[in-house]
Amino acid sequence: MNVLVIGSGGREHAIIYKISQSPKVKKIYCAPGNAGIKDLAQIVDIKDYDIEGLLKFAKENKIDLTIVGPEVPLVLGIVDKFQSHGLKIFGPNKKCARLEGSKAYTKDFLMRHSIPTAQYEEYTDFEKAKENIDKFGYPVVLKADGLAAGKGVVIAQNKEEAMTALEEMMKEKKFGQAGAKIVIEEYLTGIEASILCFVDGKTIVPMVSAQDYKKVYDKDQGPNTGGMGSYSPSFLDNEGFQEEVQKMILSSIIEGFQKDQLDFKGILFIGLMITNKGIKVLEFNVRFGDPETQVILPRLKTDLIDIMESIIDEKLDQQSILWREEKTVCVVVASGGYPEDYEKGKVIYGLDDIKDSIVFHAGTKEKDGEVFTNGGRVLGVMACGKTVEEAREKAYKDVSKISFEEMHYRKDIGKVITPA
Ligand code: AMP
Ligand code: GLY
Repeated sequence: MNVLVIGSGGREHAIIYKISQSPKVKKIYCAPGNAGIKDLAQIVDIKDYDIEGLLKFAKENKIDLTIVGPEVPLVLGIVDKFQSHGLKIFGPNKKCARLEGSKAYTKDFLMRHSIPTAQYEEYTDFEKAKENIDKFGYPVVLKADGLAAGKGVVIAQNKEEAMTALEEMMKEKKFGQAGAKIVIEEYLTGIEASILCFVDGKTIVPMVSAQDYKKVYDKDQGPNTGGMGSYSPSFLDNEGFQEEVQKMILSSIIEGFQKDQLDFKGILFIGLMITNKGIKVLEFNVRFGDPETQVILPRLKTDLIDIMESIIDEKLDQQSILWREEKTVCVVVASGGYPEDYEKGKVIYGLDDIKDSIVFHAGTKEKDGEVFTNGGRVLGVMACGKTVEEAREKAYKDVSKISFEEMHYRKDIGKVITPA
């Protein structure tokens, strides 16, 4: 079959790496892709939000299956559009994608279905939000309702910080329309974990667990990023944890989908906080996580295309899903300055010397045979091992062979960081 993958990050590189092993796949296209993806797929110069352009391409190139990586096209309704033209596409429809596209909608879903989550209130009126800003004490969490490229969540330590964030979101429109509505939420403390699940509307199957590292510096210091690395399985993962997640979270989610007539088909990413009062849901994403995917998919034994087709056909309950015992670690190498401003266009050296890892490209671009940086998160160096420790040693050995001007990365990916 001909497959089109939409997206250009490390997540999409990992998806393409995995599906390129499928005997069912003849040719892979990727829009817009990156320099690493180019070795496995034909790059197509169409942006992920250009739904009409992608549709035209899929029709003209006889695409048998389209796989959507990022949230933006899903929230824009690419799945509904492709389906209305009789094209097969993997991902949730527009109605279901609201579970990532609107924080208030998600909070309402969680509350109505008694799924444990932080207390919250939503506001569209600045004055009302201001009046109630103290309601949950401090720190307090403020969230722009809509998509804000991962930047729409502010943890305010005091009233002053909360007011600044509120003004930026609602008055100055820092996130545009995404901040027209906001959520004020109780601050939870605990250890975060992510569970990614395959969902076909009726059945929900968790993948092996993974953990990402959001803060830019070692020991979880500094500002939030899109993710500086990941490892799998999470140190929290044991039978008790899995049972609690299944009982308290997953069963209620699938029941909630059915009650709300949400025909969710695709990947559900559940962000959790393990608090001393039990596990609570922080957020949903309606797609694979980045960089979680880079440590999860290399552990998947089963053909990912088979799983995706079983989801589209609502036969996930009949699909066997097998995982390797090997553990994985992925270290993200970033541009100087990231997550704030950074320069692009630096030559990347050492990629040909990598022996024991797979380098998933994120922000890279090729020109005249050389690879250049083209984003904040540039590469994800992923290695496998019998233990997480073995995997991290291999990954860091290969990271040390890579260089570009002002590159930086965390030195503690794969280590357990507990909150201070
Ligand atoms: P979200 O996009 O909702 O996952 O938020 C991004 C990050 O903000 C999460 O990964 C958490 O680290 C943090 N966060 C979100 N909601 C809360 C909360 N209620 N309490 C504490 N931290 C939170
Ligand atoms: N790693 C978090 C995310 O993909 O949103």
